[in-house]
Amino acid sequence: MSAPNKSYDPVEVEALKPEEIERMRDEALAAFAAAGDLEQLQEAKVAHTGGTSPLALANREIGALPPQAKAEAGKRVGMARGAVSKALAARQSELEAERDARVLVEEAVDVTLPYDRVPAGARHPLTTFMERVADVFVAMGYEIAEGPEVEAEWFNFDALNFTPDHPARQMQDTFFVQGPKGTEGGGTSQASGSGGESGVVLRTHTSPVQARAMLDREPPVYIVCPGRVYRTDELDATHTPVFHQIELLAVDEGLTMADLKGTLDHMVQSLFGADMKTRLRPNYFPFTEPSAEMDMVCYVCRGESVGNPDRPCRTCGSEGWIELGGCGMVNPKVLTACGVDPQKYSGFAFGFGIERMLMFRHNVEDMRDMVEGDVRFTRPFGMEI
Ligand code: PHE
Repeated sequence: MSAPNKSYDPVEVEALKPEEIERMRDEALAAFAAAGDLEQLQEAKVAHTGGTSPLALANREIGALPPQAKAEAGKRVGMARGAVSKALAARQSELEAERDARVLVEEAVDVTLPYDRVPAGARHPLTTFMERVADVFVAMGYEIAEGPEVEAEWFNFDALNFTPDHPARQMQDTFFVQGPKGTEGGGTSQASGSGGESGVVLRTHTSPVQARAMLDREPPVYIVCPGRVYRTDELDATHTPVFHQIELLAVDEGLTMADLKGTLDHMVQSLFGADMKTRLRPNYFPFTEPSAEMDMVCYVCRGESVGNPDRPCRTCGSEGWIELGGCGMVNPKVLTACGVDPQKYSGFAFGFGIERMLMFRHNVEDMRDMVEGDVRFTRPFGMEI
C-alpha cells in the first residue's frame, strides 16, 4: 500500500505508515468502546482526537511529504480520522442514552409517598397571645417597649423601690448572673443596696422596663412591654423558671386609679368578651402605691359557680374570679428615681403572666406542655394575624 510513497520519497515518515495509521485508529476505537461513561469517553476523546493525539500529530507530518505522497497519506489519515470521529459520535450517543435511561430511574419521584414526614413548625401560642394582648394597647396608642433579659440589679430592684433586704432579691427567687461588686457570683440582698455596686440578674419581672422607659422618654409615657422573665422555680405543672409577662405603664398628668380600672376592663373585654370585668383587691408592691391584685370574672363559668354546688368550676375553684396579676399607681419614689416629677405627673402600671392567662383561656392543664416545644401542642392553636 505504501509502495507509491517510497518511489517519491526516500525518507519514510514513520507516523504515516499505513499500519501505524491503522493502529492509531484501532486504539482510538478500542478506547471509545472501553469508555464506560461520558466522563471516560471525554478523556478518550481528548487522547485520540485532541491536538496532541497521535492522529493529529500524524496529520501534521503530511505537510513535510512531497506533493505526490501527500494525497495518499492525506487520504489515509483522513479516513482514519473520519472513522474515529464517527465511532466517537456513536459511542457518545450510546452513553448519553444510557445515562438518560439511568437518570429517569434514579431520579424518579414517587408522588404517592407521604410528603410531610418532617412536620412543619407552628407559631407558639404564647407568642401569638402575647402579641394579641400587646395589640389591644397598641390600638389605644401605646408603644411597645423592650428591655434586656439580663438586667442590672438596679433596674430590676433598686429603681423600683425594693429595699435591699426585700425577700424577692434572695437567691431562691432571683437568678444572679453576677453579684454586686466584691462578691463572687452570688450577691445577697444585704450587700446589694449600696448604689453603684449593683449586680446583674436575669430579670424577675418586666417592671424594670418601666424604669428604663421613664429614663428614656419625656412624659407622657404610654408603653406596653411583653417579655420573658426568670425566677428560680422548679418546672412543674404550675411553675416554670422561664415565663412571660406583659407590663403596662402610663405616666401623664392627672392619671388616677379610675384610669387604671378602665384600662383593665377594656383589656379583658377585648380579650375575653364584652361582658367581662375586673376587680381590684388591696395588695403591696414596692413600686406602686396604692397597689392592688387584679382579678377578672371567671372566663369559664362567668361567676355562675359561686354558691352553686351543682355547677362547680375547676378554673376558678368556684370563686367566680381569676387572679390576673398586680397593678397600682406608680410609687412617687419610683417616679423620682426615674427623673419624673411626681408633683406634676402620676402613673399607673400593671403586669401579669401570659402563661397563666393562656392556661385558663385554653384549658391548658400542665405548664410543661407550653415549654416542651412539641409541635403537636402548638399546632392546634393555629395562626392569628
Ligand atoms: N411586676 C409585678 C410582678 O411581677 C407585677 C406588677 C407590675 C405589679 C406592675 C404592679 C405594677 O408580680
